[in-house]
Amino acid sequence: MYTQQVMDHFMNPRNVGEIDGANGVGTVGNAKCGDIMRMFLQVEDGVIKDVKFKTFGCGAAIATSSMATELVKGKTLVEALRLTNKAVAEALGGLPPVKIHCSLLAEQAIKAAVEDYLKKIPGASRTAEEAALVEELERRPVLHEA
Ligand code: FES
Repeated sequence: MYTQQVMDHFMNPRNVGEIDGANGVGTVGNAKCGDIMRMFLQVEDGVIKDVKFKTFGCGAAIATSSMATELVKGKTLVEALRLTNKAVAEALGGLPPVKIHCSLLAEQAIKAAVEDYLKKIPGASRTAEEAALVEELERRPVLHEA
């Protein structure tokens, strides 16, 4: 039912834990299954220097959280906002259809953490790129609705 990559990221999840003083934190949940994901980001100069997660959820939720952190680590905020649940699922070699929503939760958790980071920067001190991202997020206010 699960690929080797899913089993590997479930058994040995990467980047588990919290970041002390994280400057972006996003928490999302799925009301149907009750699973919850929290992502912590350390952003410097528009780049995700470090990322960790805590997930209370199913095996696929753990595996997709782990893979999502690997996919955004060292990436820019723009790249992180472009992460799709499809990319997370593909990087894991695929997920059973009933587990696709777990990858969506991972995408939403990353986006919620980036959004949190961006919204914390006072308007006047945003770079042009950050301001453009905030505007984009405001046009899509339901980004992390589970
Ligand atoms: S069953 Fe809901 S996140 Fe996996």
